[in-house]
Amino acid sequence: MFQTASTTTFRNRALKLTSIITDYLAHSGKQLSDLTSSSLAYLVNLEAIATVSPVIARGILQELISQRSNLKLIASENFSSIPTQLAMANLLTDKYAEGFPHSRFYAGCENVDLIEETACNLATNLFGADHAYVQPHSGADANLVAYWAILSAKVEQPALDRLGIKDSAELSPEDWNSLRQTLGNQRLLGMDLMAGGHLTHGFRKNVSARMFNVSSYGVHPETGLIDYDALERQAKDVRPLILLAGYSAYPRRIDFQRMRKIADSVGAVFMVDMAHFAGLVAGKVFTGPYDPIAYADIVTTTTHKTLRGPRGGMVLCKKEFASYVDKGCPLVLGGPLPHIMAAKAIALEEASRPTFAQYASQITTNAQALANQLISSGQRVLSGGTDNHLVLIDVGPLKLTGRQAEQAAREARITLNRNTIPHDPNGAWYTSGLRLGTPALTTLGMKAGEMEEVASILSLVLSNTTTENSRVKYSISERSLAEAHKRVANLLSRFVLYPEIDVPFLQKRF
Ligand SMILES: Cc1ncc(COP(=O)(O)O)c(C=O)c1O
Repeated sequence: MFQTASTTTFRNRALKLTSIITDYLAHSGKQLSDLTSSSLAYLVNLEAIATVSPVIARGILQELISQRSNLKLIASENFSSIPTQLAMANLLTDKYAEGFPHSRFYAGCENVDLIEETACNLATNLFGADHAYVQPHSGADANLVAYWAILSAKVEQPALDRLGIKDSAELSPEDWNSLRQTLGNQRLLGMDLMAGGHLTHGFRKNVSARMFNVSSYGVHPETGLIDYDALERQAKDVRPLILLAGYSAYPRRIDFQRMRKIADSVGAVFMVDMAHFAGLVAGKVFTGPYDPIAYADIVTTTTHKTLRGPRGGMVLCKKEFASYVDKGCPLVLGGPLPHIMAAKAIALEEASRPTFAQYASQITTNAQALANQLISSGQRVLSGGTDNHLVLIDVGPLKLTGRQAEQAAREARITLNRNTIPHDPNGAWYTSGLRLGTPALTTLGMKAGEMEEVASILSLVLSNTTTENSRVKYSISERSLAEAHKRVANLLSRFVLYPEIDVPFLQKRF
């Protein structure tokens, strides 16, 4: 237990921490007052970690080096601010706080109450929602909380009301079993994974498909867009309890106003998973019919993609569902993660500033520039472009699988991921598509001109990658790889991740 360690150990630690700053000042020729609090904190944080595990300190540093030297085009990733990261690195991680603010199963939660309430208030103000719940540990958890809140409100509560019973714990074993069967027999209509939906929207191998009787909608085979007329017919046929909108690989806006009408026409609860595009909603890129908050009963999100916060999830909902959503613990979750809720509050505060709206709008401008240049370079861009943060390309015409193209790009120092495309002939593992996103490079400050360069480097690499009778092996011409490396390095030298952190100094130290 470290409290009982000798005073000498503490003194040694203090000396070490002081020495990294002293050493850094000597190395950089800077004054203490020249350093930002973030850069100081980063130095000291790594040093403190290294006193326990140099391996982990080096792992963190190596990841920073990797993220600095590759172009990050993973559509679901971003670069969170150092204050967001620091808010997670403290003793809040030690606190149990099951329940919700001012209604906890543990004593001593006053400070967590303040932190959680602050995050909730920031979320409701930012998105204009009636209610926010910031405890889900991830987007998958947020979806489970939402599903079960809907099931509780629409299936369990009416059944209890009919029986005149307040709490399901008081049901007889027979009534409880009958309720469980009814809960497990509800219908969900969501977007097909192969068309751009998400695993948690009813994919067979995910718990969502085991909880619900699932039907899926796809995209129009020619346009690659959601066909709302076809969806309306399908909804009338299926009559789902939940109509779910949202995606992880669909490059277009969704008309939530239209989807709300479809949900109403069949008496469904309208749920939106805005995990990918929450930042575009927060930054008012998606407004009017494209703003899900105005139309959905319940909206889930991750906090770490376009929203640029810590890894985590969140649920926003109308008043009707608030008390059910707040029961995410114990319904689905265990104890909340107060340090992550603190980091969510920091990120939500950042997203409430006018600069975030500029950032969000630049994400989309950049994605469009990327798509246009890819098209000009001869790539097959699905749906002909984008109006959000992501671009999908079909590498089938290049005679590559998504897996080969993903690996070739990574060799060229472009990090992106392979993705299925609608009716993919290569299946979900090898795939025929690549998914590219602009949130991270936009955080670095890149603009349309840089996106054109990124598209041109990627096209150079893909058009010089070849394969023979394999879905895995490939080769890239040495010349194009060398050229790609030079051009990537040149771009990244002008847009440095966390420029206040002196990586060469840290490399010598760790
Ligand atoms: C639409 C959508 N929902 C949910 C999730 C799950 O988020 P997490 O990985 O945080 O569980 C993702 C993640 O990719 C997503 O794209």
